[in-house]
Amino acid sequence: MKKILVTGGAGFIGSAVIRHLIQDTPHAVVNVDKLTYAGNLMSLASVSDHPRYAFEQVDICDAAALKRVFNAHQPDIIMHLAAESHVDRSIDGPGEFIQTNIVGTYTLLEQARAYYEQLPFERRESFRFHHISTDEVYGDLPHPDEMIGEGNTLPLFTETTAYAPSSPYSASKAASDHLVRAWQRTYKLPTLVTNCSNNYGPYHFPEKLIPLVILNALAGKALPVYGKGNQIRDWLYVEDHARALVLVATQGQVGETYNIGGHNEKQNIEVVKTICAILEELSPSEANPNIDSYSCQPGNADSYLALIKYVQDRPGHDMRYAIDASKIERELGWKPQETFESGIRKTVQWYLDNQDWVQQVQSGDYQQWINKNYKERA
Ligand SMILES: NC(=O)c1ccc[n+]([C@@H]2O[C@H](COP(=O)([O-])OP(=O)(O)OC[C@H]3O[C@@H](n4cnc5c(N)ncnc54)[C@H](O)[C@@H]3O)[C@@H](O)[C@H]2O)c1
Repeated sequence: MKKILVTGGAGFIGSAVIRHLIQDTPHAVVNVDKLTYAGNLMSLASVSDHPRYAFEQVDICDAAALKRVFNAHQPDIIMHLAAESHVDRSIDGPGEFIQTNIVGTYTLLEQARAYYEQLPFERRESFRFHHISTDEVYGDLPHPDEMIGEGNTLPLFTETTAYAPSSPYSASKAASDHLVRAWQRTYKLPTLVTNCSNNYGPYHFPEKLIPLVILNALAGKALPVYGKGNQIRDWLYVEDHARALVLVATQGQVGETYNIGGHNEKQNIEVVKTICAILEELSPSEANPNIDSYSCQPGNADSYLALIKYVQDRPGHDMRYAIDASKIERELGWKPQETFESGIRKTVQWYLDNQDWVQQVQSGDYQQWINKNYKERA
């Protein structure tokens, strides 16, 4: 059994990692989370009373608090997920992204290093610092529409693709990746880095595309689609990501980077239409009082599809992301268990079944932000 310190464990991916660690492995967890608008302890309700789980409400920029947590909990592995993670928010206000993603990662690295250097030799040998990052650090790839007549092979991001981030979010994550690698090279802190494609699944904060579309459709509100909706993302079910992360943290090679992806390239508009079709099946618009073309109610549409509304594109929007995940598959034997079709159906069903979670997260600062941004842009 290892003691694993997870930062950002009340967020979307962090909570999936913790539920997986507690429910499917013998490891113990200490969750270090500041509980920003994106952190929600309700996402951990199924494991929070478990004797192998502990919670510390701490900001990763607070060196003294981190030092206390390291000394009190004596972790063997750090899995660092805490971050500001929403691209649109990073465009509106990059300051928090610089603070948490860069300064916070630096502060955590320094506290981890001080702790690591005083560990006895055998514990140093097995200590790991795993930094969780995104494929957005690589910038974007050519879109198939741009490659007509250039052959059929579309490039993928590999672990050696050069960094070229486009948004304040991805630039701050790129900076944090560089810091982690430098701490390994310079101070011999045993680090690992993973870069993953877009995640989706249960407990996803409703500002992100998939939950936003599900919940707006059910409420009869517009389904905002940026530009033409032809941006391509490679979608991975969050529980597949969580399994990959625990594998890397416990069995990955020190100093290595692993790309993680779902082999599920989809245009955004395709994702939105798929959700509408699943909702028609599981919660038909005909029986939904919010979808009524004669009522002049919010969406004023007669089906979920009719709620789609094309809005002005986001500045600097990347056109295509796609991951080559062959290294983690070959070296650690990981493969996603869900296809996009199975994962998206589970996700829609989860949101239908978990309205209390939705209501709780929607009652906070989220609603204000979403009203301001999506109403103004729509
Ligand atoms: N969501 C994706 O599709 C995706 C894909 C690849 C990589 N990632 C990376 O995975 C990680 C987790 O992403 P997510 O989608 O779960 O994010 P999230 O926004 O859902 O959760 C972030 C968590 O970090 C916490 N946090 C924020 N600032 C903090 C601070 N200063 N100190 C302590 N805790 C703080 C929040 O309270 C929240 O619980 C991020 O590092 C992100 O860059 C995300």
